[in-house]
Amino acid sequence: MATEMEEQLVSTLTAQAGPMPAQEVVRLAHQRFGRKIALSSSFGAEDMVLIDMLMKVDSKARIVTLDTGRLPQETYNVMDATREKYGAAVEVYFPQAEAIQLMVAERGLNLFYHSVENRKLCCGVRKMEPLRRALAGLDAWMTGLRREQSVTRTDVHKIEWDSSNQLVKVNPLADWTSGDVWKYIREHNVPYNALHDRGYPSIGCGPCTRAVQPGEHERAGRWWWEHPETKECGLHVVASTAPSTGGGE
Ligand code: ADX
Ligand code: SF4
Repeated sequence: MATEMEEQLVSTLTAQAGPMPAQEVVRLAHQRFGRKIALSSSFGAEDMVLIDMLMKVDSKARIVTLDTGRLPQETYNVMDATREKYGAAVEVYFPQAEAIQLMVAERGLNLFYHSVENRKLCCGVRKMEPLRRALAGLDAWMTGLRREQSVTRTDVHKIEWDSSNQLVKVNPLADWTSGDVWKYIREHNVPYNALHDRGYPSIGCGPCTRAVQPGEHERAGRWWWEHPETKECGLHVVASTAPSTGGGE
């Protein structure tokens, strides 16, 4: 539950951010939270747009990432390209070695293919627990979520109260289309993950991401063996709320 003060803050920011373009939302969030906000980046196309916007506001702004230990090499390549181009200090969070060892000993290295329960366990150990550490001490986090991405994301707002993490959540690209993302990348010469050119619109861990066929949904290649409704790893639960008052985004 958000306190009255937190609700007020979310309402105020929502009203301010409503009519703003994404770049201004990034600036607003940085002005309000400074080093108490971090961009959580998977280095996918959306996050590269946000990195470009954020680095133009403050080259020392915080960027955190969760290295699950199962990322494709191309993701590490774009991570390094980001450090080089922007001089960004990317904070990398790793899973706890003991928890991984235990999970793998009990259920194997490819446990995620065997059941949704196993897949969620793996995401819990490799992503959720490190995310908790990455967000500790922050007042807000920023993500590249877009409403258009999936049936589980149609309610994403530019500013939300994230009740699972007890933080303000800022999603500057909430109303962007995939076309908007790529237009920005081309116009601003932003580095991007090479897998995007090989049929991967959305990129997560190597064993859980495949290329999509023409006409397939952009997240069809994520956990492709599961139903669309289960396809969230837990980083973004629907418990986030936006205030009913405020600007119409
Ligand atoms: S996921 O939850 O299904 O993996 P997706 O790949 O669509 O998410 O990314 C949505 C947003 O979640 C990204 O824009 C980013 O903010 C955050 N995110 C996803 N994966 C990571 C990661 N490995 N490290 C940090 N943030 C991530
Ligand atoms: Fe594990 Fe796959 Fe989740 Fe990555 S996406 S943490 S490999 S289940």
